[in-house]
Amino acid sequence: MSSKTQKTLCFSHLFLALFLQALKLGEPNREVAVAPPLPILPLPSSSQLKWQRRELIMFLHFGVNTFTDSEWGTGTEDPSVFNPVGLDTDQWVDAAARAGISLMILTAKHHDGFCLWPSKYTDHSVLGSHWRSGNGDVVMEFVGAAKARGVDVGLYLSPWDRHDVRYGKEIAYNEYYLAQLQELLNRYGSVEEIWFDGAKGSNATNMTYYFEDWFSMVKELQSSINIFSDAGPDVRWVGDEEGFAGSTCWSTINRTSLRIGDGSIVGYLNEGDPRGVDWLPAECDVSIRTGWFWHKSETPKPLKQLLNIYYHSVGRNCVLLLNVPPNKTGLIQDTDVQRLIEFRKAIDTIFAINLAEGNAVKASSQRGGGQGGFGAVNVLDDDHLWTYWAPNEGNAGNEHWIEVEGVGRSLSFNVVRIQEAIGLGQRVKNHEIYADGKRVAKGTTIGYKRLHRLEEGVVNASKVRFVIKDSRGLPLISSIGLHFDPFWHPK
Ligand SMILES: *[C@@H]1O[C@H](CO)[C@@H](O)[C@H](O)[C@H]1NC(C)=O
Ligand SMILES: *[C@@H]1O[C@H](CO)[C@@H](O)[C@H](O)[C@H]1NC(C)=O
Ligand SMILES: *[C@@H]1O[C@H](CO)[C@@H](O)[C@H](O)[C@H]1NC(C)=O
Ligand SMILES: *[C@@H]1O[C@H](CO)[C@@H](O)[C@H](O)[C@H]1NC(C)=O
Ligand SMILES: *[C@@H]1O[C@H](CO)[C@@H](O)[C@H](O)[C@H]1NC(C)=O
Repeated sequence: MSSKTQKTLCFSHLFLALFLQALKLGEPNREVAVAPPLPILPLPSSSQLKWQRRELIMFLHFGVNTFTDSEWGTGTEDPSVFNPVGLDTDQWVDAAARAGISLMILTAKHHDGFCLWPSKYTDHSVLGSHWRSGNGDVVMEFVGAAKARGVDVGLYLSPWDRHDVRYGKEIAYNEYYLAQLQELLNRYGSVEEIWFDGAKGSNATNMTYYFEDWFSMVKELQSSINIFSDAGPDVRWVGDEEGFAGSTCWSTINRTSLRIGDGSIVGYLNEGDPRGVDWLPAECDVSIRTGWFWHKSETPKPLKQLLNIYYHSVGRNCVLLLNVPPNKTGLIQDTDVQRLIEFRKAIDTIFAINLAEGNAVKASSQRGGGQGGFGAVNVLDDDHLWTYWAPNEGNAGNEHWIEVEGVGRSLSFNVVRIQEAIGLGQRVKNHEIYADGKRVAKGTTIGYKRLHRLEEGVVNASKVRFVIKDSRGLPLISSIGLHFDPFWHPK
């Protein structure tokens, strides 16, 4: 052994000894955290989690129908009817941003087949319009405006195309459709959601869509995208166009039981499946007006109705996709902009203050001991996903509860909010809320967010108890809230 090697060995021994000494010194104070519980499958992907936390997103139906006063165009429209002389996508994005919306989805092509971008595979597009002298690209302007404001974009490309002569010729049309998907997903940067539906007239030409090819192509071109359809694979349709989820709403379902355009499964879509093997949360699409496209004769829904939709969608574990159609000028009508702002203000008024905060909170049991980890206090912090209350394993099979006790004052509220730590799976099957021993609300699933407006209106109580009656495995509750909704006046 050379003396050089010996010296090195000697040094390394010294360092090792010092290191072990340091570990020993640290030992008495070192508290090892209790590990989080095992998840219950299936789990959301990170793109699905990101989508879920958006809560409110926007749809924009815009195209030749805007100019012909129709909902389903025939495909025979002259492209020159499309002429939004005052089109200003900054105005669209500004309206969305003021409403706290972080994702906007545009109908790049509706059933009439007219393309809002200059697709090189058809002549039925903005190229044939007088708008911007035939050099316009609505998709490009939309994406540019959104990205400049930090708002994400999504696109809808209707499978049913009433204009294109290839429709009904299986291979030719699927090739055409895939060509357009490639244009949209290659040209405009990152796209966060793509929307497919099975909508089709009863007399429409028969056509087999190669959904598996389409979905594979989408995932190849966009890594963080969520694919929406009746059957997912990432986000499912809720089964109606009223914006209402089932009062039971699982994010889990069996994809193998779903088929795009199958009207017989709407109940299953609406409620999901507690035994479902796929994480496929529901999106609630509804228009701020009666129609999806802008019509001069229509007006936006009243605030009260929008709030009702919010409680039945976001308040039932879903994302609300609210359609706000630009008008003939190419702008979102001022009445709709004002209603959106009112809607956001109302949501903030109700939920900005959590009346449970600053009070005492305790639980039936707690995973691990001490201050850290999984204590009841976690339900009152700002994190609604990764810090949570977990009961003790030993208590499996028992009822679990968490209780807020007013400190120096009674708790006065008419809305209750509960959220599960869905990053570890959706679990709760049945829950009840008690105010001073009297039941004031009950429900089945919770999921990412469950809201209850109290039937009896404002309740005053010194103690409010959230009881989990039944769950898949142990329940994990990430947040609770007691709120006052000044717009809620039950009879
Ligand atoms: C379907 O076709 C029949 C016969 O041509 C017609 O009477 C009916 O109105 C059509 N229905 C729709 C929805 O277009
Ligand atoms: C489409 O195909 C189905 C099944 O093959 C058939 O029952 C139906 O009549 C067809 N519809 C049209 C419009 O051709
Ligand atoms: C969904 O799949 C699971 C696992 O195969 C099964 O236990 C469950 O019954 C299925 N749900 C329905 C509604 O068939
Ligand atoms: C579209 O909305 C804008 C903003 O409210 C309004 O100035 C314009 O007149 C509207 N266009 C039509 C055709 O109603
Ligand atoms: C609840 O308390 C508020 C004040 O905190 C009071 O105005 C209201 O009358 C009380 N309601 C009931 C039903 O006791």
